[in-house]
Amino acid sequence: MPYNPEIKSTNILEPPSSIKTLEVMLKLIVSLATLLATLPFATATAGVYASGPWGQCGGKIWFGPKTCAVGYHCKEWNPWYYQCVPVAHPTSTHQSSTSTRTSSRSSTTPSPTSTGLALSAKAAGKLYFGSALDNPGLTDEPYLAILSDKNQFTQLTPANGMKWESTEPSRGVYTWTQGDAVLAVAKKNGQLLRGHTCAWHSQLPSWVTAGNFDNATLTSIMVDHCKTVVGHYKGQIYSWDVVNEAFNEDGTFRETVFYNTIGPSYISKVLHAAREADHHAKLYINDYNIDGTGAKSTGMVNLIKSLKAERAPIDGVGIQGHLIVGQVPTTIQANIEQFAALGVEVAITELDIRMELPVTPEKLAQQKEDYKNVIKACANVPACVGVTIWDYTDKYSWVPSVFDGEGAPLPWDENLVKKPAYDGIVEGFAA
Ligand code: G3I
Repeated sequence: MPYNPEIKSTNILEPPSSIKTLEVMLKLIVSLATLLATLPFATATAGVYASGPWGQCGGKIWFGPKTCAVGYHCKEWNPWYYQCVPVAHPTSTHQSSTSTRTSSRSSTTPSPTSTGLALSAKAAGKLYFGSALDNPGLTDEPYLAILSDKNQFTQLTPANGMKWESTEPSRGVYTWTQGDAVLAVAKKNGQLLRGHTCAWHSQLPSWVTAGNFDNATLTSIMVDHCKTVVGHYKGQIYSWDVVNEAFNEDGTFRETVFYNTIGPSYISKVLHAAREADHHAKLYINDYNIDGTGAKSTGMVNLIKSLKAERAPIDGVGIQGHLIVGQVPTTIQANIEQFAALGVEVAITELDIRMELPVTPEKLAQQKEDYKNVIKACANVPACVGVTIWDYTDKYSWVPSVFDGEGAPLPWDENLVKKPAYDGIVEGFAA
């Protein structure tokens, strides 16, 4: 007969205290399960708690849901990370633990003899190999054909389309055209998307930089902006560069409009805003010249430690990787390892390796070695989830317009022909 507290006063069937303790514990467990069921990362599907779209659904040290919401299935990207991807996802090859491997290949599924950068990355246990894409490329058919080849690229980043000047050029007026166009390509191809970027001092519209806002007003502008942009793309983004380029070269904070007005707490505030807007996206802080160890990387380490200490939502460090041929740091792997040791994932987010023009066979050979070494550093650390090159062809590189007399930083040349750097990447993943 079950214990009923209502009849306790009769004293006839009073259970021993050990049973009462057990019962209290059971009630606690039931309450905890009920609480977990209400958490935002999970949605109920036929009585089973499932991860939402693009949510994590498995992997080592993962104690969350292992099934996916309707329309999604659990794909193993690497032993550490399984993700809920749409059932129509053309490269999906694994089902959740209760399902079986898909039997039919889609037309875009690579044949066993196929080669490609994304295939090499996958073979090395990485989640993706990707490229930035700027909107002018969208009308360039030969360019798009290579970009859409998932043997080569399983992830895209909009080079400009989601930045503040593109998304909120006037206060409270949002435009999604550019970012949505990049999203549409990623969706059509079944590629992951990285969001770029919420709080950055550059490419800000003048109404933000010249607004002379006080702390409270700028905080609310920044939080609203990030919530709106991240919210617009909710459920469709793998990771966001929430904060971009927050550091000076010596590891101190860069004096941006956000830092000067709000103070260093702008970083945790904008991270919280992003988390509130999309519980599934991984939230990153991204910077350049943090490729190897040094003062700037140490600044990032200290920031991640303090964010973790205050329980701010931080999931990843983005190492941009804008490098120079023959000058690639030798401490990239050690640097990735020191970030990983803090309990965050790491990605190389904007890799390109530029040279002084003109291009020569010697410089191309050195560039190949440099790419190989950077990729090898990521390949050697499980927490390094993927690599994105900052566009894939020299045709659309940002470098010549900024560095006089320099260029040719990418693995495909201006005519969309592969350079030795391409083989360097493949070799780096295989090393
Ligand atoms: O939108 C205008 C267009 O209206 C005008 O006709 C044209 C004339 O030059 O300029 C266009 O704006 C350009 C914009 O890209 C969009 O194409 C800017 O001049 C140009 O400066 C801007 O460059 C971008 C740069 O960020 C700005 O900082 C690059 O494309 C983009 O690749 C680059 O990306 C950054 C990352 O976001 C952060 N890390 C460094 C990386 C390289 O600088």
